[in-house]
Amino acid sequence: MATTPKLAAVIGWPVSHSLSPKIHATWAAREGAPAYYVPVAAEPDYQSFEKVVNGLRAAGFRGANVTMPHKENALRLAGTASDRARQANAANMLTFIGDSIHADNSDIEGFVNATRAVIEGDPTFKTAIMIGAGGAGRGVAMALKELGIKRLIVANRTREKAQNLADAFDGDVLALGEIDRALPEADIMVNTSSLGMDGRPPLEVNLQGAKRSLVVADIVYAPLQTHLLQEAAAANLTCVDGLSMLMHQAAPGYKKWLGATADVDDALRQTLVKALGGNA
Ligand code: ATR
Repeated sequence: MATTPKLAAVIGWPVSHSLSPKIHATWAAREGAPAYYVPVAAEPDYQSFEKVVNGLRAAGFRGANVTMPHKENALRLAGTASDRARQANAANMLTFIGDSIHADNSDIEGFVNATRAVIEGDPTFKTAIMIGAGGAGRGVAMALKELGIKRLIVANRTREKAQNLADAFDGDVLALGEIDRALPEADIMVNTSSLGMDGRPPLEVNLQGAKRSLVVADIVYAPLQTHLLQEAAAANLTCVDGLSMLMHQAAPGYKKWLGATADVDDALRQTLVKALGGNA
């Protein structure tokens, strides 16, 4: 008897550039799972998103990842949500169970696991500098708390947004130009802004005063080696790139909807680097 394939999707706008189908296809091929994971475009408004989600449910999909600009819509649409999704005010996973939709957020554990993967033993992070105060920043701030951060410093172009985020996490605020001053205290620095993305200005930070143990993370993955990560690598600092976070955030969805094993390893990374048109 033929096995019914398991189906999942990634919903976004735009979505055609998403690497998620490649990640899931790689895991499915490894274990010979009859599983398909497809990109589905939904225009930015809530009604379009709702229509697409209902269409996928009707078609028998088990769940969907949700990316820009629908992470808040996903939370709004779901009947139930995990604590992480509620606290982040954003969901990147929707699971369809009968008539109900459950929202979850694996971006946070994606960041936590990507960081743990490059640190030997348990990290002893006390102070974090986070650049950017948008939706992605909120999730990363939660992840930093899970990694044991005691002091969060938020640096952002718009001070008010930095202040709002810092207030929610008992943190402090800096102007972008003041990062150098706080750097000597930092155990981890994370870029959650769009600075450094293809077509955007680079994020310029003078790393000279950094601890030798500083971990530098960048959520941007196009380009993979952002200016910030190039500078950090040149200074022999430990780096966490956006691709690592992307692979780690994908694992919970794969295991929930499509298969049993979702290993994040170098072979998967190489497949994705190739898809990005690079070599590293
Ligand atoms: P997301 O939800 O992915 O975080 P966002 O809400 O648009 O996206 O946030 C993007 C972040 O990049 C913000 O922190 C933004 O700073 P502002 O709060 O001042 O808008 C930051 N950002 C974008 N372009 C920037 C630029 N040219 N210089 C400095 N910061 C920039």
